[in-house]
Amino acid sequence: MRPVATIADLRERARRRLPRVAFDYIDGGADGEVTLRENCRIFDDVVFRPRCGVAFADADLKTTVLGQTIALPIILAPVGSSRMFWPRGEAHAAAAAGKAGTIYTLSTFSGTRLEEVKAATSGPCWYQLYLCGGRDVAISAMARAKAAGYTALVVTIDTAVSGKRERDIHNGSKELISGHPIAMLPFAGQLLSRPQWLCRFLLDGGLMQFPNVVLPDGPMRYADVAAQLAAAVVEWADFTWIRNAWQGPIIVKGVHTADDARCAVDAGAAAVVVSNHGGRQLDGVAPTLRVLPEVVRAVGDRVEVLFDGGIRRGADVLKALALGARATLIGRAYAYGLGASGEEGVTRSLSILREDLVRTMKLLGCASIRDLDARYVDASSLTPHSL
Ligand code: FNR
Repeated sequence: MRPVATIADLRERARRRLPRVAFDYIDGGADGEVTLRENCRIFDDVVFRPRCGVAFADADLKTTVLGQTIALPIILAPVGSSRMFWPRGEAHAAAAAGKAGTIYTLSTFSGTRLEEVKAATSGPCWYQLYLCGGRDVAISAMARAKAAGYTALVVTIDTAVSGKRERDIHNGSKELISGHPIAMLPFAGQLLSRPQWLCRFLLDGGLMQFPNVVLPDGPMRYADVAAQLAAAVVEWADFTWIRNAWQGPIIVKGVHTADDARCAVDAGAAAVVVSNHGGRQLDGVAPTLRVLPEVVRAVGDRVEVLFDGGIRRGADVLKALALGARATLIGRAYAYGLGASGEEGVTRSLSILREDLVRTMKLLGCASIRDLDARYVDASSLTPHSL
C-alpha cells in the first residue's frame, strides 16, 4: 500500500480494515448522496488569492472558541458508534484530540461512558445531545456530562428522523444489529472477511449499547436508535428547559439557513454549527460552504459561527475560515483514521491537516488564521442565497 499522505489514504486504509457495514456507515450519506458529494466538491469553487513576497517564521494556527484556546481551528465532531470502528473508539479519538490541543465532541450515541472518554483526554470535551428517552433521561446525561467536566453542550437540530442511508440497508445493518441469527446470516460474510477487526470487536464486548442514554430498563440498545430518534425531535421551545438544566454554553448544530441561525440566537445559543450532518440527513440541501456566508451575515457578532461538512484537506478549513467561520469541525476525516488504526490514525489525520494548514498559510502569505478573511479568496462562483 502507498504511504499515507492524505485523508483519502486514511479512508482507503479504513476501507481495507473495516467490514463493509462499518466502512459504509462512516463513508455513506442519505438517499442519492447528492449533498454529501456537493459538500466536498464545492470547495473547488472557491479559489485562493495569495499575497506573495511575504515572509514569516511560522503560521499561527491558534484560535479561541467560546473562550477556550485551541492549537488549531479543527474540532472533532460528534460521530456516533465510534466504538464500532475501534475498541473504546471514543476514548481513543478524544485522547488524540487532546494531544493535538483541540476539543473532542462526544455523541449521545457513544458506546463508551462519557466519564471514561473525558478521563482519556488532556483536552476539553463537548457533549452532543439528542433527546432520546425524553427530558429526564437528557437531564441526567447533562448532569453527568457537567460533573465529568464537559464544557459545552452541542444540541443537534437536524435529526427529526434518521436519514435514509441506502448503503446501510444494502449491507444489512438492521439485520446485523437485530441479534437474530437467521436474519444476520445473509450478511455475516462481511464480518468474517475482516477477522482482525472481528476479533478486536468481540474482545471489546461485541455489539455495544449506549451507556450515556439510561432508559428505565437500562442503557439504550443499538437496535432502538431509529425509533428513539424519531421520538426525540428537538423544538426551539425545548431550549428553555435545556438551558436551565445545562447552565453553560450551548452550541446549536445543524443550521442550514439564516432564519434558523436567528432562531438559535433567540434560543440562547452561544455558537451555531453550519452543518447538514455531513449529508447524512436531508439529501438535496445546499452544501454547507454555500450557506456559510448567509449565516455569518445573519448573526453578525452575536454568536460564534462554526462550520462542518466535506473537509478533507487543510485548504478546505482555510476557505471556511476566510468565509467567516471561527473554526471547523471534522467528522469523516478523523473517523477514517480511527477505523484505520485507532488513536494513531486520528493523530495522523490531525497531523495531515495541520501540515496542510501551515503550508497553505505560508503560500497564502498570511501569518495568522485570525487574519484570514474574504480578501484571501475569490468566492464569486458560489451562488449566494437571497435573504
Ligand atoms: C455523524 N454526525 C453526527 N452528528 C451528530 O450531531 N451526532 C451524531 O451522533 C453523529 N454521528 C455521525 C456518525 C458518522 C459516522 C458521521 C460520518 C457523522 C455528523 C458529524 O457530526 C458532522 O456533522 C459531519 O460528519 C461533518 O461532515 P464530514 O466532516 O464528515 O464531511
